[in-house]
Amino acid sequence: MTHRAIAIDGPAASGKSTLARKLAGRLGLIMVNTGEMYRAITWELLRCGVDPGDRAAVVEALAGMDLGCGVRAGRSTVTVDGVDPGPELRSDEVNARVSEVAATPEVRERLVALQRDYLKLGDVVMEGRDIGTVVFPDTPFKIYIDASERVRSARREADGESDSVGRRDQADSSRRTAPLRVATDAAFLDNSDLDAEETLDAALRLLAEKGWKSTDLMER
Ligand code: C5P
Repeated sequence: MTHRAIAIDGPAASGKSTLARKLAGRLGLIMVNTGEMYRAITWELLRCGVDPGDRAAVVEALAGMDLGCGVRAGRSTVTVDGVDPGPELRSDEVNARVSEVAATPEVRERLVALQRDYLKLGDVVMEGRDIGTVVFPDTPFKIYIDASERVRSARREADGESDSVGRRDQADSSRRTAPLRVATDAAFLDNSDLDAEETLDAALRLLAEKGWKSTDLMER
């Protein structure tokens, strides 16, 4: 049986994770957060004193890393050498360096393979920056979600995170490998003026338009 993927891409703090979590709950899908995977590698590099901007050193360290990507309670999990970094994934240090690590082609190659493997486990909703363009380019179910930079910065502040959203977006959009882009066949969802429930409703309508069967849209 072939499993289906819903791809959700968008810039930092655009509401990807909230939407993915709600879609997963409503449609009974595995929710996969790919940002956490890039964050976990960044956390480990910093812990080991490797400069994320030194590509050769990053590649060498990556070769020795045991990355574990699994599922717990319907949601993706990530460990590095058996350790779950937990809240440290969202530390200021990781926020500041993760885009550099994510620009490394070898890092992306390794993670994209692990991300595609989730489809062996069931239907997934996966969120990130390159899900509709690189990880699952053939899925018809793609949503690009965005909100104004003012709204996105306010969301991060409300979460108590210091995160330079604009700088990260600039780096993620301008890198050579798998830059953040709107896939040509993605539905565009601006949620600047929508709350989480309204965003979910809008996404469900877009998925229905793209042919997600209406029986699948019923609450389980
Ligand atoms: O989604 P989140 O903000 O946690 O992602 C952290 C960083 O990981 C992004 O700023 C980006 O550099 C990188 N990322 C990526 N591709 C993905 C998911 C995240 O490059 N699919």
